[in-house]
Amino acid sequence: SSVTQYDYIVVGGGTSGLVVANRLSEQENINVLVIEAGGSVYNNDNVTDTLGYGKAFGTDIDWAYETTKQEYGGGISQTLRAGKALGGTSTINGMVYLRAQTAQIDAWETVGNKGWNWKNLFPYFRKGEQFQTPEKYSFLNGSGVTYDPAYHGFTGPLKVGWSSTQLNDGLAQEVNTTYQNFDVPVSYNKDPNGGDMVGYSLFPKTVDSELNIREDAARAYYYPYQNRTNLHVWLRTHANKITWKDGEDATADGVEVTLSNGTMAVVKATREVILAAGALKSPVLLELSGVGNPDILAKYGIDTKINLPTVGENLQDQMNNGLQYDSKASYSKSADYVAYPSASQLFPNSTAVGAKLLRKLPAYAAKVASANGNITKASDIQRFFKIQWDLIFKAGIPVAEILLEPFGNTYDTEYWGSVPFSRGNVHLSSADPTVAATIDPKYFMLDFDLHAQIQAARFIRELFKTEPFADMAGNETSPGLSVVAAGADDQGWSNFIKQNYRSNFHPISTAAMMPKEVGGVVDTSLKVYGTSNLRVVDASIIPFQVCGHLQSTVYAVAERAADIIKGKI
Ligand code: FDA
Repeated sequence: SSVTQYDYIVVGGGTSGLVVANRLSEQENINVLVIEAGGSVYNNDNVTDTLGYGKAFGTDIDWAYETTKQEYGGGISQTLRAGKALGGTSTINGMVYLRAQTAQIDAWETVGNKGWNWKNLFPYFRKGEQFQTPEKYSFLNGSGVTYDPAYHGFTGPLKVGWSSTQLNDGLAQEVNTTYQNFDVPVSYNKDPNGGDMVGYSLFPKTVDSELNIREDAARAYYYPYQNRTNLHVWLRTHANKITWKDGEDATADGVEVTLSNGTMAVVKATREVILAAGALKSPVLLELSGVGNPDILAKYGIDTKINLPTVGENLQDQMNNGLQYDSKASYSKSADYVAYPSASQLFPNSTAVGAKLLRKLPAYAAKVASANGNITKASDIQRFFKIQWDLIFKAGIPVAEILLEPFGNTYDTEYWGSVPFSRGNVHLSSADPTVAATIDPKYFMLDFDLHAQIQAARFIRELFKTEPFADMAGNETSPGLSVVAAGADDQGWSNFIKQNYRSNFHPISTAAMMPKEVGGVVDTSLKVYGTSNLRVVDASIIPFQVCGHLQSTVYAVAERAADIIKGKI
C-alpha cells in the first residue's frame, strides 16, 4: 500500500508485540505497523514440532545473545536464547504455560504501581486464552491431567492445553505418591494457574491439541487476522532507533529502520511508538535513541534526550541446572511434572534461613548498588529485597521449580530458584545498532541464589530416594555421586552448579515499571518517563521475577497494555 505513516508502530513482532498490534488493530480506523527483524516461521519444523525444544537454538531464528564472563558464575559466559521471528521467543520457548502466585503480582502494586495487582491482571490471563479441555482428547485418557475451569479462558486467541506427545505415560500417580511420602510432603495441586502454584501438578502448554503443533504468538494473534487492511507487518526489518519530533518535548514521531534490502528508512508514527523488542533489546533501543544514563550514552557519542539512568538496570534472570537418572522403564512420550516447593518445603530449617537472609539484605542491596555505580540506590534495592523476602518467607510463594521429565530410559530433571536476588544489567556497547550489547546478569552474585539452587538439587535427590520413585529409578548419571557425594555440603555442590548452569531464559525488568524516584523506567501506563508517547510493553517492564514461566504473564501484561493504550483503563 502507499501508506508511509501509521498511527502506531510496534517495534518487535514477538510475544507481546503481536498481542498489542492485534488489539489496537481491532479499531478499524487505526493503522498499525509491526517492525520485526525476523521472518515467518509458520512452516519451520524446528518451531512447530512439539518435541522439538532446542532444535531452533543456534539457527538463524535465535538471537543467541552472549553475556559477559560471569564473575560470580564460574567465570563462564552464557548464551541467552531469544526468538528472531514473527512470534518472537514464543516460537522457540519450552511452551510451558504457568502463571504466577497472586502475591507476586500484588507486589507490583506494593512497589508503587497502582492498579497492577493479581485481581486486575487475572482477567487478562483469561482474555488471551483458548483453553482446550483435556476430556475432549482421548489421547489424554489416564494421563492424570486435572484443571479448574474457573481459572481459564475459552474464547481467546491463544491455544493452551496438552498435546498427544505429552503426558500419557501414566506416571502422574507415582510421582504424586512419592511427593506425599516426603518428610515434608508436597501436596497435589489440581490447577496451578489460579494464582496458587505451590505443590505438585501437571501443567498445560501453548500447543494446538488438535494438530499437535506449537501455538505461538503469530499463530494466535497474527495469522488469523492477517487480512485486516489496517494491520501491517514488515518482516526482516531491523529497528535502529526511535526518531523524535523537533522541539523540546520528547515526542516520538517514528522509527529509523534498515529494510530487508539493506537500505535505511524512517517510518512515521502519528500517535505512538511501542517497544516490544524483548528485555534484552528494548532497553538498548532506548539508549540508541538517547534515553538512558548520560555517562553511558556520552561514551558512544549519543546525545541524551532523556536522562533516565536506570534504563538497562535491574536485570533479573534465573539459573537452570539439571540432574539425570537412569530409569528402569522406557518412556515414548515427553511428559513433564512440576513441583513448586515453598520455603518451608525446600529448606529443612526455613525460619533460620529466613532470619539469616533478612540480616543480609542491607549488605546485598549495597553490593547491587555499588556494582552499578549507585545508579540504583541501595535504600531502594533494600526495600525491593524486603518485599521479595516477604513473598518468600511470609506469603509462602514457591521458592524453586522442579521439573521431572521422563523420556526414553532417562529421568531428566531441571531446577531453579524462582526468585534470585542478584541484579545485573544490559547496555549498548556502540552507537551502531548492529553491534551486540553488553549483557551482565551477574548470576550467583548473592549467596542466597546459590543456596536455593543447591537446596533444589537436594530436593531432587530426595525425590529419587523416596518410594515408589526410588524403586523405579536406576543410578544418578549426572552429576553422579563421584562428582557430588551423597550428603554433600554446600561447598560440595557449588562447583558442579556453577560450572554446569545455564540461563533459565527468563530475563526481565530492564525497563522496569516502578515510580521514577525508585528507579523505574516506565510508569503504570507503560509510558517511558519523560516522553509523551513512547511505551514499552514486553518482559522488560516486569518489576519482579515470577515463579511461573514468563510467557503467560507477558501475554497478560500485553493484553492489559492494549486496553491502557486504547484508553479503556
Ligand atoms: P520476544 O522475544 O517474544 O519478542 C521480541 C521481538 O522483537 C522478537 O520477535 C525479535 O526478533 C524482535 N526484535 C528484537 N530487536 C529488534 C529490532 N531491533 N528490530 C526489529 N525487531 C526486533 N516462557 C514460558 O512461559 N514457558 C516456557 O516454556 C519458556 N521457555 C523458554 C525457553 C527459551 C529457550 C527462551 C529463550 C525463553 C523461554 N520462555 C518461556 C520465556 C518467554 O518465552 C519469554 O519471556 C517471552 O516470550 C518474551 O516475550 P517478549 O515479548 O518480551 O519478547
